[in-house]
Amino acid sequence: MATSNLPLSTNGKSKPAQSGGLEGVVALETKICHIDGQKGELIYAGYDIQDLAANATFEEVAFLLWNGRLPSSEETEVLIRKFAAERTLPPMIVDILRMTPEDANPMAALRTGISVLSLFDGEADDSSPEANYRKAIRLTARIPVLITTFDRIRKGKEIVQPLREGSEAHNFLYMLLGEEPGEAAVRTFDACLVLHAEHGLNASTFAGRVIGATLSDMYSAITGAVGALKGPLHGGANIRVMEMLNDIDRKNANPKAYIQSLLAQKARVMGFGHRVYKTLDPRAAILREMLDDLSRERGTRKWYEMSLEIMDIMETEKGLYPNVDFFSASVYATLGIDSDLFTPIFAQSRITGWTAHLLEQWKDNRLIRPRAAYTGPRGLSTKRLNLNPG
Ligand code: SDX
Repeated sequence: MATSNLPLSTNGKSKPAQSGGLEGVVALETKICHIDGQKGELIYAGYDIQDLAANATFEEVAFLLWNGRLPSSEETEVLIRKFAAERTLPPMIVDILRMTPEDANPMAALRTGISVLSLFDGEADDSSPEANYRKAIRLTARIPVLITTFDRIRKGKEIVQPLREGSEAHNFLYMLLGEEPGEAAVRTFDACLVLHAEHGLNASTFAGRVIGATLSDMYSAITGAVGALKGPLHGGANIRVMEMLNDIDRKNANPKAYIQSLLAQKARVMGFGHRVYKTLDPRAAILREMLDDLSRERGTRKWYEMSLEIMDIMETEKGLYPNVDFFSASVYATLGIDSDLFTPIFAQSRITGWTAHLLEQWKDNRLIRPRAAYTGPRGLSTKRLNLNPG
């Protein structure tokens, strides 16, 4: 008979109360984000994502996620100055990045860099709300520097120091590309950071909250979250989307036939489907418009046109819609960013959501520890195996 208090299945054995992957399970309450998967709605602390993407900067959204309200213009200025002050790396980390193999996976380099950052942060194990808030700002400011420093070193280029002022979006593109980015590129990239900042209990945020709920430190929780985001079923999908688009382009293949062949092999088409959205991911709709505008301005329409064909065939054949990773890949490629940096860029935005959830978790913490239904054998004995001959 089942010994756990899980609901019984028809054959009398205990079974998980929900289908695999905790689908449909409400694990906790949050004031940070709401998603309506049927309507395709996403709100951050009361504000609709369409409104924020069009009218708020990444700095304002970071403040909103951490504080539950949008900042005043003075508060925004203070936060921008705090980001500028923290936009630096301890010299030892640059030395470590110089020893990192050129072909290292950028997400592995980022995960390692964040972990090493904790060794040089005197507040790493200070769990006071004030110290954790300062660490949220420090990590948000330093992750883009880790990414761009790693990329410049692996390419044998001079490291570009951040500007004394300017937004995270402006500084990231400047440090990465080594030249002043255009207004439109900064605005587009800033909107991408807003769109990727937060998304409820996605796998990486949940991983971070589980680690934080043991009262471990913020760096340990964020290192775990980066590890979760790296997976191709989660944040790693945007890199695979670009690989697919490049493959179609290289082979001069018909996009619809290419997708139909993937589906015939029961393969997953990256950038499509979602555990919660059962209609178009609202972020994908915004990114599609952004790609339309940006590719028109840059005169490179091939990714946009290819994407519309893929979107059409996926809806017709599978009833599946693009998620945030599908169009973001083409936006970043059009901005001239290497595809293996797409997931690190996802992390440089989602650090605000991850840290917001940790601050919320620690306000009213309880260890996160679900149950499992045992389905293994019972009543076995070592005696019959004569393991301890007399
Ligand atoms: C992100 O959770 C979040 O909020 C994440 C995220 C965030 O902001 O944090 O939104 C970011 O991670 C977006 C998702 C990025 N991942 C991908 O694009 C990878 C490709 N998509 C999937 O593998 C899939 O859609 C998941 C993992 C995203 C969701 O999978 P589920 O909910 O576990 O659904 P499933 O695997 O059970 O699939 C249900 C059916 C299956 O068909 P059957 O076997 O039942 O016939 O849909 C099919 C699947 O085969 N299916 C796909 C598909 N996704 C689902 N078929 C082809 N291609 C796909 N992409």
